[in-house]
Order: sequence, then structure tokens, then C-alpha cells
Amino acid sequence: MNINERVSAAFCGGAYGDEGKGRIVDEQVNKYLKLGKHVIVYRDNGGANAGHTLELPDGRRVALHQLPSGVLYPEVMVILGKSMVIHPGDLAVEINEIKEVAGKNGIADIKIDEMASLALDTHRAMENVLKKWQEGGRGATGRGISPAYADILLRQTLRVRDIVNFDEAKVREHYRLYQAMIAGLGANLSEAEVVAYKSDNPVLVGTEDEFIERLKKQAELISPYVTDVHKILEQTWPDPNNAFVFEKAQAIGLDPRFGVYSDVTASDTTFGGILGSTEGIIDPLEIKIRASVLKATYMSSVGTRVLPTKMDETLANIIREDAKEYGATTKRPRGIAYLDLPTLRFFTKVGQVNKLVLTHMDIVYPDLPIKVCTRYTIDDEECGYRPDQEFLSRVTPHYIELPTWDRSEIQRAKKPSNLPKNARHFLDFISDELNAPVAMITTGPKRDQSIVLSEI
Ligand code: IMP
Repeated sequence: MNINERVSAAFCGGAYGDEGKGRIVDEQVNKYLKLGKHVIVYRDNGGANAGHTLELPDGRRVALHQLPSGVLYPEVMVILGKSMVIHPGDLAVEINEIKEVAGKNGIADIKIDEMASLALDTHRAMENVLKKWQEGGRGATGRGISPAYADILLRQTLRVRDIVNFDEAKVREHYRLYQAMIAGLGANLSEAEVVAYKSDNPVLVGTEDEFIERLKKQAELISPYVTDVHKILEQTWPDPNNAFVFEKAQAIGLDPRFGVYSDVTASDTTFGGILGSTEGIIDPLEIKIRASVLKATYMSSVGTRVLPTKMDETLANIIREDAKEYGATTKRPRGIAYLDLPTLRFFTKVGQVNKLVLTHMDIVYPDLPIKVCTRYTIDDEECGYRPDQEFLSRVTPHYIELPTWDRSEIQRAKKPSNLPKNARHFLDFISDELNAPVAMITTGPKRDQSIVLSEI
């Protein structure tokens, strides 16, 4: 690769989240650093609802929620973009924790967009109250994500800049608005309890004054990282010395327009969201690699959505234990489903995906063919995926079975030619069905258990 060539890659969850994207992003950062590039990791959506566990070389584990991957590389810049919804208190704790873990190595240069919206304890309280009223929100993570995004549409968003230069009048108005809305729904904001970062003990939202005092302290802690990201992007995006890695949060199946409505999140989970978050500076179609990360042989989902290809609990339990399928943010056991190609074809298309990364290629069982849904019908009539739980509850999935391969053989594979023949056929099949090449696979939980198959 020519050093003067601009390189960029974006990664999204291709199904319902928790596909193991963080590890792939981390490898891409490493690869670009080795090319001699200055690496910038940009995250544009979601907030503390995301969760990804980093495994350090010494075996320690640390969970990231609001910080993008790449934060443990001191030479990297990580940006928390405008379309994120930030909880300043949780973020301050997370930054501290990462600093502690990194020790004297230091951490990345963290930049928080002053224009990003806030997702505060008020939003968390609102979400908890709404759970009693609405079905779709019951699976939500309690991080106040959807009320925070709703504030943008209601033209009442509080931005990071509003607490860095503490606009007390504005914040008080925000509290009063939420107090009134929550009172209207029969609850009391000051007595509401909400989740706090990594704590089993809930936090009391408290009175207006208590809320303001807490927020002021939290704002102070994140202030050193808050900056004019717009200017940084204007300068850095056109410069070929920089390599950009975009890390989407959540996954296409959780998008409010394309996911299994109504158990969806509120942010744009497709690559399209990068355009708005960067205020038009970065057109996602200019990003050369737009990879969707998927589990190769099954799908998993946490929340209340019922997937057409949900498998029976006997095999689901085995996979859950083998692949540690428990939510990183909420620790809930994930539902397990067979690979659903009608859905994935739709997600790949609307997500503007041009590459696939298939993880967990080692989750296979002796003499157990891999069951894959290739089409749906309703009352014997063919149909495709539609983003609606009610519709999806009516479809009948139709399956084919593909021959399996040997787990230990694939875990040992180091290059494409080492892959078992059936694994190779499986990859060709998925690539044809989803109309995108498989660029990379992972063959086991360790960092070196990955194989590149085409340009990434
Ligand atoms: P919210 O994003 O907290 O509003 O949650 C809405 C839905 O998205 C719920 O079903 C959550 O479980 C799900 N969700 C949100 N973030 C993630 C994630 O990072 N991985 C998997 N599921 C998620």
C-alpha cells in the first residue's frame, strides 16, 4: 500500500449487536499504525448502552461503553462524535478506569465533540417510567438513550458544551421539564433511582439542586477532553497521513428505521449516520471499507425481540456457554437464533455494507450441520424481511443445512489455505447470498486467531 494513499475503514454490527466488533476495530487500528499512519478512531452513535470487553495481553479485562476501541493506544486519537449521547459521570469513571489499566503506557488522545448530546440521569429516569407504558422500550438498557435522542427531535437537546461552560439556567430548565413530564406519568423525578456505571447500587436522581451539583462535578471531569471536533475533522480527514477507523455502536438490526421495531435503539446504526455526525464532512460512501461484522454460524440478540429463526434452547444453551453469550452492558443471557439470510440481506443493503467480517467460525459441532434460513413465507407466499416485529412474528422460515467442519482444525488455521473445505464453501455461500466479499474471519477467542481473506 502506498503511504500517500488515504486509508479508512468502518465497522458496524451486522445483526443485533455484540458481534465482536471491538476486537476487529482494534486489529485495524494496529494494522494502520504499522503502516506508519496517524490513526483516528471515530465513533458517531449510541452511548452507554454499548458494551465491549477488551482483553489485555496480560489477561486483564476491561469493559468499554462510551469510549471507542483503540483507546489503549497512546499514539491514537479517539473521537466521541456529535451524534453520540454522552453520560458525563459514567464517561469520567470509564476514562479513569482505562487510565488505571494503561498505567504508565498512557491512553489515546480522547476528544469529545462539544456538540454531542447528553444522556443524563433525567433521561434514565424517564426511560424507566416509560417502560411501564410502552412495549418497545422494555428491553432497553436503562441508559436513557431513547429519551436523549428524543430530545433532539423535540428541539430541546442539552449538549456537552452546555455543561462545559455550565449554563445553569438551561440545565435547570431541563430538570424542570423532565420533572413535569415524569410527574405527568405518575412518578417523581427526585425520588427516581437510575443505574450508575458498574455499580449494583442505583443512584437517586435527587432534587434540582442535587442534580445540578452532581452534573457540575461530572462536567469538570470531562472538560479537558471536550473540543471543537468539527475543526479537527476538517483538518484531518483530507490528510492522507491520517488513517480513519469508524466504529459504529449497536448494530443494523437495532436501527429505529430498519431494525426489529419496536425493540430497537434510537441512533442511526448504519454507516449513513457518519454523514450527520460529522456535519457533512465525511461522506460514508468515501470510506473504502465498510464492513459488517457478523457471527458466522448463528445470531444472537439481547432484548425482547422475537426472531423468526430463534432456535430451541438445547442447542442455544450450548452455544451460549461456548461463546459466552451474555450482554456486556446488562449481563442478560442472549437469545440465540439460526443464521437468517432474508434479514441479513436486508441489513447488508440498507447498511451500505461492502465487506463482511465473520467471527466465531469455531462455533461448530461434530456431526451437526449448520442450519441456515434462506427464505421466508407467509401463508405459503414468499416474502422478505420487514422492519416490524408484528410482521416478523408471522413469517415461516425455510432452512437448508450446510456441512460442518472441525473446530480444532479451524482454530489452528493461520492462512486461507489452512481452512477446512466445508468452511471455505460456507464462506463462499454466505458471500454470494449477501452480495459482499468476506474480508476477514475469526477462528477463536485469541487475538491471533483471525485470517484475512480479501482487502481490509
Ligand atoms: P437502548 O439502546 O438502551 O434504548 O435499547 C434498545 C434495544 O437495543 C434493547 O433491546 C437493547 O438490549 C438493545 N441494545 C442497545 N445497545 C446494544 C448493544 O450494544 N448490543 C446489543 N444490544 C443492544
